[in-house]
Amino acid sequence: MKPKDKYEIISEMAKRRGYFWPSYEIYGGVSGFLTFGPLGSLLKRRLEDKFRRFYIRPLGILEIETSIIMPGKVLEASGHVESFKEPTVECLKCQHKFRADHLLQEFGEMSDTETEKLTLQAVVEEIKNRNIHCPECGGDFSKAEQFMTMFTTTIGPYSDSVGYGRPEAAQGIFVEFKRIHESARGKLPLGVVQIGHALRNEISPRQGPVRLREFTIIDIEFFLDPENTKCERLHEVENDTLRLITAENKLNGVTEPIEVTVKEALNKGIIKKEWQAYFMALAKRFLVELGVPEDKQRFIEKLEWERAHYSVQGFDQEVYLERWGWTEVSGHNYRTDYDLSRHMKFSGVDLTAFKETENEGGKRFIPHVVEPSFGLDRLVYVALEYAYTKKKKRTLLSLSRELAPLQMGVFPLVSKDGLPEKAKEVYQMLINEGFTVEWDESGSIGRRYARADEVGTPLGVTVDYQTLEDGTVTLRDRDTWKQVRSKIENLPELLHDYFRNKIDFEGLGQLVER
Ligand code: GLY
Repeated sequence: MKPKDKYEIISEMAKRRGYFWPSYEIYGGVSGFLTFGPLGSLLKRRLEDKFRRFYIRPLGILEIETSIIMPGKVLEASGHVESFKEPTVECLKCQHKFRADHLLQEFGEMSDTETEKLTLQAVVEEIKNRNIHCPECGGDFSKAEQFMTMFTTTIGPYSDSVGYGRPEAAQGIFVEFKRIHESARGKLPLGVVQIGHALRNEISPRQGPVRLREFTIIDIEFFLDPENTKCERLHEVENDTLRLITAENKLNGVTEPIEVTVKEALNKGIIKKEWQAYFMALAKRFLVELGVPEDKQRFIEKLEWERAHYSVQGFDQEVYLERWGWTEVSGHNYRTDYDLSRHMKFSGVDLTAFKETENEGGKRFIPHVVEPSFGLDRLVYVALEYAYTKKKKRTLLSLSRELAPLQMGVFPLVSKDGLPEKAKEVYQMLINEGFTVEWDESGSIGRRYARADEVGTPLGVTVDYQTLEDGTVTLRDRDTWKQVRSKIENLPELLHDYFRNKIDFEGLGQLVER
């Protein structure tokens, strides 16, 4: 029997323990939708908060929240109505529809770089030449069609009032630029972020948490004066190395990334904008903090015909996943003034910024935009895959203290002799202190530790007979299985320090020799 890969192991655990599972299971399931259970939604929130701490707050980026349904006009202006399309073919026998480029990649040995370039007619010819038939029933395919992958709706009871589910959070920022910029007193550069659901009506999503029809996107739009695009924070990252596959190397069939420092990448013109390079370096650091080593990350430059319609230079940050290979987790695009110009034209509203100049007294201009954009659901899965490990045949999720959904489990050693009552007091005290704590009283203490290890709970707090004598508890470390003893009254301060990474496990108490 083929051994299970990490995706299979993690998704089995995820269903059983409440991380995530396919939505609408009781109705047979609909692919492309995912439900985050109690642990999954906690992990997702922690990841989101870590992102805010790491990427948003230090840069003074402003966060907004706009609606998911957008009037048709907004997405006509943004170019999505015209460009947000994928080629499809239909099986003439079973009527299943497929993404034509994916068929060519999966069964026709073509790369995405090659398929992206094909016209609709060429897609059909290649499918024929490569003798590709319907993977479901072996039937022949129809001619190809462009399928618009935005969800379409009507707004209110008027059938001519077309609306779309937003395919990116970015447009909510562009259409509100005027007010945000005014409320920020005309400041530039100006970073604005939106974290929220986005919708893409994928043709045949089959990759669990990696390709979803409804997903959480983090779009940062960083507005700049095109005549002054210097990044004043570049020195923080200029010596960081990036593993890059440039567009030129990709065209020449080079698949190994080059390793360059951020400074070199800019000096050699590999990355066009300092802020773009800065955000890419931060993205790499962020993924390292999620547990992805540097050699399991790379950036791959998009060729002209692979880029989104708004982008003049784009890099995808990719992470290596066991099931899917190199997988995009963030995109870094230089969107120029494309979006604001288009919204100015379509709305008739002035979206320019003003700056004082020496001679003319001042001038108005359209800001340019550098955009880092992350898929949050994928990051949740990436964090889980990289945290997954085995210790003495036991599954262990080695999530960092910051990310672990449950911080502690409280366990009475046995369910008698007053231990559960004492343990409940400790549990309540920890809850009142604001920790996320699980109560587990069932089965042997060994089984309870194993259950906590499997979902990545960093600490076990065990109340035993000695607790009744001297008011101490055992604290157990998930990764090393070491134990220390600590006085209950000292726990709040010690544990706050521990979860703020101020002390390590051994600083929590007296080591128990075993
Ligand atoms: N806003 C980034 C994207 O649509 O991928």
